[in-house]
Amino acid sequence: MTTPREKLVIGIDLGTTQTCVAVIRNNHTIVFPNEQGYFTTPTIVSFTKNQILIGNAAENIKSRNIENTIYDSKRLIGRDYYDQIVQKDKQYWKFKIEEEPNSKRPQYIIKKGNKIDKYFPEEISSLILQKVKQISSDYLGYDVEDAVITVPAHFNNAQRTATKEAAINAGFNKIRIINEPTAAAIAYGLDNFSDQERKVLIFDFGGGTFDISILKIKGKKFEVLTSCGDSHLGGEDLTLRLTENIFKQFNEENNKQIDFFKPEYINKFYKTRNIAERAKKELSTALETFLDIDFLNNDGNFFINLTRGQFEGMCEDIFEKCILLIGKALKDAKLKKEEINDIVLAGGTSRIPKIQNMIHNYFGKEIKKTINPDEAIAVGAAYLGNIKDNNIIEIIDITNYSIGIEDHEGKMQIIVPRGTLIPQKDKKTFFKFFMPKHDYIKRYNVKVYEGENVYVKNNHLLEQFSVSVEEKKKKEENIIKIKIEIDKDSIIKVTAMTNDIVSEPPITIEKSKLYTEEDMKTFRSHAQEFKEKEKEKTKIIVAKEKIVSLNEELRKSINSNDSGSKFSRNEIQKMQNIYNKTNKWLNDNYDSSLEDCNSKINELLKSINEYNKKK
Ligand SMILES: Nc1ncnc2c1ncn2[C@@H]1O[C@H](COP(=O)(O)OP(=O)(O)OP(=O)(O)O)[C@@H](O)[C@H]1O
Ligand SMILES: [Mg+2]
Repeated sequence: MTTPREKLVIGIDLGTTQTCVAVIRNNHTIVFPNEQGYFTTPTIVSFTKNQILIGNAAENIKSRNIENTIYDSKRLIGRDYYDQIVQKDKQYWKFKIEEEPNSKRPQYIIKKGNKIDKYFPEEISSLILQKVKQISSDYLGYDVEDAVITVPAHFNNAQRTATKEAAINAGFNKIRIINEPTAAAIAYGLDNFSDQERKVLIFDFGGGTFDISILKIKGKKFEVLTSCGDSHLGGEDLTLRLTENIFKQFNEENNKQIDFFKPEYINKFYKTRNIAERAKKELSTALETFLDIDFLNNDGNFFINLTRGQFEGMCEDIFEKCILLIGKALKDAKLKKEEINDIVLAGGTSRIPKIQNMIHNYFGKEIKKTINPDEAIAVGAAYLGNIKDNNIIEIIDITNYSIGIEDHEGKMQIIVPRGTLIPQKDKKTFFKFFMPKHDYIKRYNVKVYEGENVYVKNNHLLEQFSVSVEEKKKKEENIIKIKIEIDKDSIIKVTAMTNDIVSEPPITIEKSKLYTEEDMKTFRSHAQEFKEKEKEKTKIIVAKEKIVSLNEELRKSINSNDSGSKFSRNEIQKMQNIYNKTNKWLNDNYDSSLEDCNSKINELLKSINEYNKKK
């Protein structure tokens, strides 16, 4: 690899289902193709006995390695094991997760031969990020170090910091986190540059998340007016809805009551889901599609003709939810729909015609389709990463959750309301907090939360710490002042002091602090394991090519014997057997270790040498 004068910053759209990576070089956008030539890489990791496969390779092996193939990790990142969403999703996943007792976080249980290994969701994201770092480094010819990574607008603090930790773990140096719709707006705004102020609604419907943002764009200034959405609504839900309907129709037509979600039907479930995914996409262009699902029946013969209208009927409630959220976004931004100048679509699910029609009817105007919904977010992030001083992009963002502390009744006392402009550098927010009326206490425990519920127990705990209380003071005068600052990456800093300025060091809520040093050690060893496995993978590929060429040599020896008879019929038969056995071995052993390959090479060489002597 060469050392360039200036290393470029890459933009990464780390999606629930697809990950896309881009860069801006000499004012040109490059979306990096992966090793198979695709411009997006599936966000999937598959652990086999000897390898860790990522992206298309993992996707290809998924059906043969169901329990050890991990997808949807973005739906788990930064959540606790007993989070309602985790518990609900768990029933649809075919890999195993369990609670890690110290951190209360979910962990994937991976079988590597006889060994069991455990991975946190952040580690799966980290492997994906390592992969796209490699793709970009290979393309640019140097080791890429810095990245702008996008997250859904309403990812909370834990989800953002977990994503950042995943990137650090993947070996990135400088990392900036921005919101996906903001990145899409940058890509759109710079492509459609205008000095006139425009209000733009970004409708970003991806694989696992749904976001709506309204921005004011003027030149290179991007001001977020509002963001809302559903961190758990995406194309995956539509595929699941169709899969459920296929099972329902099958049971009705065949007078059966099979629960295909049970583990014993794992293969049928996956196969049906894949067919549903294909059909869903097809119906975005075709009016009707044919689903051949005869493997559900022992005697075969089960298929469905599905029209676009039928599919739309099945998913009506989901589509309506999206439109309702547009209304909420407009209300939050205090705008009428007529005031929106442009509507921009991002995310693969926004390709569905019904969704486009509903948006069109709602606003009564054309939707802008000038940006590629699969690549716009990565491209916008790349723009932001490669700003030169004379080419400033200004982003004014807002908080998507209120931040506050718990009062003596367990209620949330809001300090920074949702929708506050960030960064908040100089704008100090002080909060006066009275002690509960009981005996004097030396230290007071402050708990900082984010969320919109009146009671803190329903919100998300960001941090807790204690501050000392001045002894001489009377209890009613014991006031704690809390100052909250938020930087441009939404990283929160809390400072607390009593009225006597018994100052405590500021607490930065950046690290999720849920991991022990021991966890971090495991993270590092997993990352190292992947690096070593990648090196070994290259050696395995070389070894397999050697096996193929040696076997070819053997075949030639067998064929050349047709003209003269150097070998007896018995010997020829033995050679033919070795040739066939080796071919079968190559087919069956996609997951062979380097050791297995080398012993196969030795075995072949031995046979070939033996026969060569006779030549
Ligand atoms: N032509 C199409 N019609 C309908 N759905 C589509 C089409 N193309 C892609 N999709 C769906 O789009 C989703 C993937 O979109 P995208 O790549 O934008 O999501 P993501 O970035 O992986 O997820 P997220 O942004 O939610 O984290 C998948 O659910 C896929 O089935
Ligand atoms: Mg996306």
